[in-house]
Amino acid sequence: MKKTILHILCLLLIISTQAQVNIKNLRCEMLDNPLGIDVPQPRFSWQLESNQRNVIQQSYQLIVSSSEDKLKAGEGDIWSSGVVNDSRSLLVSYSGKPLRSATKYFWKVKVITNKGEATPTATAFFSTGLLQATDWKGKWIGYDKASPWDSITTWSRLSARYLRKEFQSVTVVKRATVYLAGLGMYELYVNGKRVGDQVLAPNPTDYRKSFFYNTYDVTAQVKNGSNAIAAVLGNGRYFTMRQNYKTYKINNFGYPKLLVQLEIEYANGTKKIIASDESWKLNVDGPIRTNNEYDGEEYDATKELGNWINAGFYDKKWMQPEIVQAPAGKMIAQFSEPMKVKQLIKPLSIKNMGDGKYILDMGQNFAGWLKLQDLRGKKGAKITLRFAESLKTNGELFTANLRDARVTDCYTLKGTGTESWHPSFVYHGFRYVEVSGFPGTPTLNNFEGQLIYDDLQTTGVFETSDKTINAIYKNAWWGIASNYKGMPIDCPQRNERQPWLGDRVIGAQGESFLFDNATLYAKWMDDIEQSQTENGAIPDVAPAFWNYYSDDVTWPAAFMTISNHLYNQYGDIKPIQKNYTAMKKWILYMKDKYLVDGIMTKDKYGDWCVPPENLQLIHAKDSSRLTDGKLIATAYYYKLLSYMQRFAKLTGNEADIKEYSSWADMISKAFQKKFYDPQEHSYSNNTITANLLPLYFGICPDSVKEKVFENIYQKIHVESNDHISTGLIGTQYLMRGLTEYNNADLAFKLASNTTYPSYGYMIANGATTIWELWNGNTADPNMNSQNHVMMLGDLLIWYYENLAGIRTDKTDVGFKKIIMKPSLPEGLQFVNASYNSSYGTIKSRWKKSASTFEWDIEVPANSSAKIYIPALSVDDVQESATILSKVENIKLVQFKDGIATIEIPSGAYHFKSKIK
Ligand code: BGC
Repeated sequence: MKKTILHILCLLLIISTQAQVNIKNLRCEMLDNPLGIDVPQPRFSWQLESNQRNVIQQSYQLIVSSSEDKLKAGEGDIWSSGVVNDSRSLLVSYSGKPLRSATKYFWKVKVITNKGEATPTATAFFSTGLLQATDWKGKWIGYDKASPWDSITTWSRLSARYLRKEFQSVTVVKRATVYLAGLGMYELYVNGKRVGDQVLAPNPTDYRKSFFYNTYDVTAQVKNGSNAIAAVLGNGRYFTMRQNYKTYKINNFGYPKLLVQLEIEYANGTKKIIASDESWKLNVDGPIRTNNEYDGEEYDATKELGNWINAGFYDKKWMQPEIVQAPAGKMIAQFSEPMKVKQLIKPLSIKNMGDGKYILDMGQNFAGWLKLQDLRGKKGAKITLRFAESLKTNGELFTANLRDARVTDCYTLKGTGTESWHPSFVYHGFRYVEVSGFPGTPTLNNFEGQLIYDDLQTTGVFETSDKTINAIYKNAWWGIASNYKGMPIDCPQRNERQPWLGDRVIGAQGESFLFDNATLYAKWMDDIEQSQTENGAIPDVAPAFWNYYSDDVTWPAAFMTISNHLYNQYGDIKPIQKNYTAMKKWILYMKDKYLVDGIMTKDKYGDWCVPPENLQLIHAKDSSRLTDGKLIATAYYYKLLSYMQRFAKLTGNEADIKEYSSWADMISKAFQKKFYDPQEHSYSNNTITANLLPLYFGICPDSVKEKVFENIYQKIHVESNDHISTGLIGTQYLMRGLTEYNNADLAFKLASNTTYPSYGYMIANGATTIWELWNGNTADPNMNSQNHVMMLGDLLIWYYENLAGIRTDKTDVGFKKIIMKPSLPEGLQFVNASYNSSYGTIKSRWKKSASTFEWDIEVPANSSAKIYIPALSVDDVQESATILSKVENIKLVQFKDGIATIEIPSGAYHFKSKIK
């Protein structure tokens, strides 16, 4: 007995010492077990996790098998990479047998580390889509006309299309998969059950060029005997929200349509395909009477179609669908996460306004929809919901800032039992809802808010000793989530909701610390590429639902800045590789058309949306013209040429580098000559933005940098009393610019201010998201969204990279090597932050007192970090009570200017130092 216990104890000891490195988070194309992918060489990533320090992957072996059994047996019949001596665990490309259409593959990775073999915690799979055009057996079906109750005027709305088909399935199902493209949006059912939990699918694309199909596993839903497959189609952006109006500006693509293919593989080796064709049934006279994203959805439950999503339904009276033309664009598999209901929101209060009207306060501005529940009432009673972000002083909805978006949902009761409902094909940006026509007295329990955004993980945690900084962070989270709609949009409430490029040029990077937005933005880079014209122009909105080809520089800059960001933050080089040619084409297009004597002469938006008071100072007429547009465009173009040099190197286009760099030289000389005033040491009319761009982009000569910066300091500290006064452009570099020039204290004041103009001022005035305008509470409602993220500029980057001090080394991207260098501004006592990077979770938690600095750090396994510790001397630094020189594997790089720079391997550390 004793012996056995001893044995067990020994065994446990062995297991516990060996099992200290785990393999987790297996990802294919940065997605969790994706279905229906269509790339020939998918890329695999994994993470190592360990409670030990100094864990490094020494080799990996990837195995892809055709079955789970083969995978278990270690048989890589599809691909075995062999043992690869490499520490990389990010985006390793497949290079096995050609992948077959409509096939499921299983994969795992074996990892050897310097601490022994890592323990796999799970295996993974992926499946391919229908890779060849000939694999698609179905026909496009739909109803290419409006019904008498539809509207195809300016406020164009259609009733939903209901489509169904019954089929027999007789033997044991091994695998059943649905591939479908449902435009503009679809909901899919198999045997009465919704397929998947995505909403508002598929993600939108530039339908002139492409559209997405999705793949679902429905093996568990197909049954023996009679089955039914059914779909509902909504308008989405395909049948656009504003028709027969400004047609030069607004792109419309056609009536909703469906292509679907259900493939059933039986255990006996046979296969059955059910595909869309004229044998399906169609009804357009169902409960969704009308829908569009701006104006809302109307649902009449008295028009419900019965048990139409199940087999055995009598559909003889339904129509035959039309065989319609295929969409113009190319069909591709969707690689970005779908939208989902991500959070449920309980309303805060409800107020009776009299006349049967109630105002519901959700307590938070967000984008999604309102679910009605627990309804009892007479057949035909109609509840109307109107949405708004804020209230007028009389307590009614403030809708002036929605412009002509009607934003109204209606539900008509069928009058049986308890009813509940939410719309299917719309979303609203709102905090308040006006409820009218409610049968009886509504209570809070009758309503539930549902926050909708792309199914992205929240990656960061961030908290400091400063309330305002924390509140801004929270508002930013809600703003970003609200504006992810299969693409980053500007705002979710008014008649706009467009993917404006300029709003995200720098913001995308800051957002990535809060949301794992790698696939969302990689998809957006494709959208931008697809929106490019033959001659090279890139629009300001992509997908180009609106035609805005204005030949601006600062908005299309997103194509390059975000591709660069995706490489730095996620190690994803593909957007650069895929789009290098398109970027170069745009660079050349702009150069040939607008570069005159080294100056970029075209700019559309200036420093968009500066606080309006500043304009009076210089008597500028409109908000964008405070800083000379040519200065902005030239500085940006110069900066973009530096990205192009990096991209040329990364993609093997070295020959282009010389040209880019010679243009850049010529431009920087011309810029200095035209805009620099050697007397004042300032640029152009000496605005913050005019000085900041040449400083931050490296145009300004080193010898005068400090003097130029002094102007910025004066403007903010003296003239603006430590307040922000930049617009969209300047704000993209402001916080980092100030910090780089040793003014983190001033940056901190800007970020923690609560008086006008500042982020804190928005919060002090009741904002629960970020406003479009600094003066959002007083500005003209025509352009005044209360949920816009563009003004965040580089604030969130500053939160993480400067306050928490977490950033990737740009020569060893994707956080393989981490730089940890916190700034400690006066007035901030602590920061607690963590970020789930591609290599694992990074933590930085510091606190300081008058004489000590304490810092808890976590560096994920298989990464390393260079860290910067403020201290009086090296001997004043301790790690978990041990002096630095005695700590294993730590390398002192230097001690300079009160900072100890050291290199550490992965693991958790506690540093403490004396500071002055
Ligand atoms: C949008 C902005 C956009 C701008 C550019 C506005 O209406 O909401 O976010 O970048 O137009 O013109």
